[in-house]
Amino acid sequence: MSTPSTAPTGPVHVTGTVLTTRAVGAYTHLTLVAPGIAERMRPGTFVAVSVEGQLLARRAFWIHRVRHAGGHGMTLEIVVEQVGAGSRWLAAQPVGAKLAVTGPLGRPFALPKRDADPVSCVLVGDGHGAAPMFLLGERLRERGAVVTMLVAGADEAHLLSALEARRSARSVTVVTEDGSVGSRGRVADHIGEVLRRAAADVVYAAGRPSVLRDVAEAAETHGAWSQVAPELPLTCATGLCQGCPLPVVGEDGVARTVRSCYEGPVVRGDRIRWTELAP
Ligand code: FES
Repeated sequence: MSTPSTAPTGPVHVTGTVLTTRAVGAYTHLTLVAPGIAERMRPGTFVAVSVEGQLLARRAFWIHRVRHAGGHGMTLEIVVEQVGAGSRWLAAQPVGAKLAVTGPLGRPFALPKRDADPVSCVLVGDGHGAAPMFLLGERLRERGAVVTMLVAGADEAHLLSALEARRSARSVTVVTEDGSVGSRGRVADHIGEVLRRAAADVVYAAGRPSVLRDVAEAAETHGAWSQVAPELPLTCATGLCQGCPLPVVGEDGVARTVRSCYEGPVVRGDRIRWTELAP
């Protein structure tokens, strides 16, 4: 697995501008003009956005989409779930608002080599964690992979862009805990069958650690590689504060703790010491 690229790399810190804002179900989608970040992003990377009055604790968001937007050049879209004062403030920002944005940050999902045989990939997005999966699906399809998606949420309002998933995937399974859309249940109830039907070689997932643990275990049972991006609280999001411990086992078999925002967020599912990770 590798991702050779001639695109500029490394994060930049810029003043972004809110270009559009749109409420969709439980989420608010913000499109930002943030020069240089969209060009550098790879699926699985994220941005840190400063919140008014809080100089240190920025908020981290997956990069959901990137687009060319006429005279604005490349834009990026983030998905805000209003879970606290900072995210409520961000979701309320009007068109034209200025925001301090740093990114892209973190380790992206690894893609198959361009000349590799077609790979069957299953992408799992749990709630807000589905955000990076759509671009990932598009990049995988560009490389000839067969893409299956499993999009899950507590209810219809928390299903992120499930209707759009068909653009990124050949086959889509939708799961809600209350059964309001798609099949009733949790990811754990359906992942085994999805992996079997897709004859999956690689599984990619993002979301709550408790869900990703089930996905990683199902992948191992199925004999597939897994790459997972657990959503953990990030204080600085840039590797400086050591506030995002992720317990793993290194390539050398030795247990250690890495920074989720810097050595992650994407890591191999079989490398995480799940019992030491809070749900
Ligand atoms: S959030 Fe500060 S090091 Fe990761």
